[in-house]
Amino acid sequence: MKRARRADTIAKFALATSALLCVGAVAARRPPVEKADNASPIFHVRLPKAYRDWQLISVAQENGSLNDIRAILGNRTAVEAYRRGTRPFPDGSKIVRLAWRYQSSARNDAVFPTPQSFVAGAPTNVQLSVKNSKRYPTTGGWGYGQFEGGKATADPAVVRTCFACHSKLEPASDYVFTSYSE
Ligand code: HEC
Repeated sequence: MKRARRADTIAKFALATSALLCVGAVAARRPPVEKADNASPIFHVRLPKAYRDWQLISVAQENGSLNDIRAILGNRTAVEAYRRGTRPFPDGSKIVRLAWRYQSSARNDAVFPTPQSFVAGAPTNVQLSVKNSKRYPTTGGWGYGQFEGGKATADPAVVRTCFACHSKLEPASDYVFTSYSE
């Protein structure tokens, strides 16, 4: 009887241990939410995992060598500031700009009388502006990052261009180009 109980205890222990090992294996396989080495140079800005679920602020299209179509999304803090007209944007505001190749769609054009349909093709890069006035006092409170295929662009020269260009705006704009599209 005693022996049977001990065997039962050992079996339960083995089961619990293997369950723990399984959990460990799953956790080890899952990639970290933000890899320490995936931050932008200079500003150390990381692309938040949830950015693709943020809300739409507006869209834009660049011709010329960029030839892309873009969507500008914001986290809750940024979108609330937009809707209330709060400037400067409060700390914690994050604005992301997604871009894709701008290309004609033969598939869509087939249903129209003339070729007229343009759509998003392959993604080009994602640019992110993060407001933290204490951390980034010399760049209007904004930290910048660029990401290609989810990886931070490592060349510091690229993120140096961000504020160099955005700072050409008047300070009242808080160095943000995009207006909220109703
Ligand atoms: C030559 C000027 C220029 C440079 C350099 C530049 N931007 Fe911008 N940025 C713009 C303009 C113009 C817009 C609005 C139109 C658009 O999206 O095409 C914009 C829009 C954005 C937006 C959407 C919010 C906003 O401010 O309108 C983000 C986010 C952004 N840029 C981040 C960056 C980051 C990060 C970098 C550097 C890696 C960068 N930008 C470099 C001109 C620039």
